[in-house]
Amino acid sequence: MSVRLRRLAQADGPRVLAWRNSPEVAAHMYSDHVIGEQEHALWLQAALTRPDRAYWIIELDGAPVGLANLVRIELEANRADLAIYLADPAVRGRGVGAAAEYLVLGHAFETRGLDKLWVEVLARNVPGWRLHESFGFTREALFRDHVRKGGVFQEVVGLGLLRREWPKAKALAEGRLARSWALPSLFLEA
Ligand SMILES: CC(C)(COP(=O)(O)OP(=O)(O)OC[C@H]1O[C@@H](n2cnc3c(N)ncnc32)[C@H](O)[C@@H]1OP(=O)(O)O)[C@@H](O)C(=O)NCCC(=O)NCCS
Repeated sequence: MSVRLRRLAQADGPRVLAWRNSPEVAAHMYSDHVIGEQEHALWLQAALTRPDRAYWIIELDGAPVGLANLVRIELEANRADLAIYLADPAVRGRGVGAAAEYLVLGHAFETRGLDKLWVEVLARNVPGWRLHESFGFTREALFRDHVRKGGVFQEVVGLGLLRREWPKAKALAEGRLARSWALPSLFLEA
């Protein structure tokens, strides 16, 4: 079993559009309108070219299963916003999200040398924010009535992890991950 994060490519466009519009993914995103071809094409162009964004396709044993990204990469504050989703609920709860988070955190703190990662997760999305807490993220904010989904306001949790907290979090994560994965089978394309 392997988890590999490869950089998003133009050819991934149709697959990612289908994932993003699926109810299983849209439920956890800020916007839940149906994304059309034109809006998606603009997003994909920006995802592939803007230096303040980096996107990876998560592959489980060679099959594409989800998306991981750093966005709002700000060089002044030296931080970025992290997000991860697995498109098919059947793939969730098997350690793939944790493997992907481990790889992106290592890339962010060790390769890019960022000082902080932060995430925003709908408060009702317990697996979403628990995943980040399991990597040592601290809850830093609770944004009230922050987004509207299906006409209903939702609370959003903000969490952060600092570079100085990463070595301890990494050692703990490797202990947990080693129960499911051979660590050399986890790979991220920088
Ligand atoms: C959130 C998500 C990426 C987690 O990936 P996953 O492969 O399902 O999670 P893992 O099996 O690797 O579990 C990692 C940790 O996440 C948390 N977690 C995962 N599923 C959970 C659940 N159903 N309930 C509570 N916590 C859960 C736990 O802390 C878990 O650690 P543990 O197994 O040691 O308790 C995945 O569920 C998903 O794609 N959800 C929809 C999109 C989303 O919510 N993205 C997050 C917003 S950035």
